[in-house]
Amino acid sequence: MSAIPERATGEIHIRGGVRLQGKVKVQGSKNAALPILAATILVEGESCLKDCPKISDVYRMLRLLQSLGGHVRWEGEGVCVSTGSITTQDMPEDAITGMRSSLCLLGALLAKCGSIVMEYPGGCVIGERPINLHLQALEQMGVHFCEEEDRICGQAPEGLHGADISLALPSVGATENIILAAVTARGRTRISGAAREPEVEALCRYLNACGARIDGIGSSRLEIQGVRLLHGACYRIPADRIVAGTYLYAALGTRGCILLEQAPCRHMQAVIRMAERMGAICQETGEGLYVQSLGELISPGVIRTGGYPGFPTDMQSVALAVCTMAQGETRIEERIFENRFRVADPLRQMGADIQQLDSHSLLVCGNSLLRGQRVEACELRGGAALVVAGLLAEGETIVTGCEFIERGYGNICKDLRELGARIYSV
Ligand code: EPZ
Repeated sequence: MSAIPERATGEIHIRGGVRLQGKVKVQGSKNAALPILAATILVEGESCLKDCPKISDVYRMLRLLQSLGGHVRWEGEGVCVSTGSITTQDMPEDAITGMRSSLCLLGALLAKCGSIVMEYPGGCVIGERPINLHLQALEQMGVHFCEEEDRICGQAPEGLHGADISLALPSVGATENIILAAVTARGRTRISGAAREPEVEALCRYLNACGARIDGIGSSRLEIQGVRLLHGACYRIPADRIVAGTYLYAALGTRGCILLEQAPCRHMQAVIRMAERMGAICQETGEGLYVQSLGELISPGVIRTGGYPGFPTDMQSVALAVCTMAQGETRIEERIFENRFRVADPLRQMGADIQQLDSHSLLVCGNSLLRGQRVEACELRGGAALVVAGLLAEGETIVTGCEFIERGYGNICKDLRELGARIYSV
């Protein structure tokens, strides 16, 4: 079977008004799987990644690894990757420009091959997505970069060496690229101001399972002692905290009662606390996270996104959708990306009362009755928010632009149908 099946993309149709009930297994984390797949480039032999999510960003990354000489095969809910003698041939351009997360190949390929030529990974609708922190850190480790139009060329003729790196911003991607460059570099690398996201933690744990020497995992100060060889490992991709949060808020908004099997509760505390402020009871059980609405949907007052362990920016759009129906006003402050309010327009089409106060904050007036409409998704998390809004709205909602949603959700319609939603894709 092809490692990268084509996916039909079209519309999602939702008939709202159903209280979600039942249980659903939470898929593996997109943002953990992608850097770990990039890390397999550094490993001699095969790695098998259990619970790897079947999403288009993963399929695209697998195609990239194959285009570099890697071998890929799915085994049930896992994928096995061996890269062996990988070389930096020209990568398929569409795979690079179309996917931000291929940027995590930068550190791995420089470490493995000592050179890289790749399309400048495009920004996206949520922000310009600069990569200055990535390039500055890798230069400290011995890489010389030149940028020609839309291409990045990097050379490390003497190979990579360790460095003391202080990140001005806790960039997730930059932290991951430094880790990938450092695990087989000569000497020691220390990162201060590192991102603490659970996905960075998962990357470190996979690499240590392969024989890397990373200390300070989960903290903002990482110390990495380079080793000569990394061997393959079996590793379970942690559950996706943003997918779990999406379904949590859908249950809250529909006044439902669900069990999120294998939800990564430890890494969802800000999201859980916010849901409790909005009228949910959340109980961490051995099976996962039990969520029950208390019947009222109450504004939390303020939602401010921030780096981990703060409220995740990837949950902001979904929380916005639910706040449109909450009692009371909510101020939403997006502190990570500069353009992450695009979903406000289609939500207004559905009847939401949302005022943009400035480029980083909205005022949601709440108590709206959302009505089903035909709305268009233009990016991943905004698309998921429109699906959630459709669950809350009266009548039928049609969401187009589902290829964006498929980047991060393996099968959002199937998952929500298991919870009783009237939702299907055409
Ligand atoms: C990762 O993106 C995630 N993507 C994003 O998830 C997530 O929203 C983001 O981290 C924040 O948590 C993946 O893991 C594949 P950053 P990343 O570097 O690494 C600025 C989703 O929906 N910055 O932490 O690109 C940047 O502009 C996606 O799953 C620089 O200025 O995020 C942003 O304002 C969306 N210079 C802030 O830092 C740099 O060199 C945080 O970006 C790098 C970043």
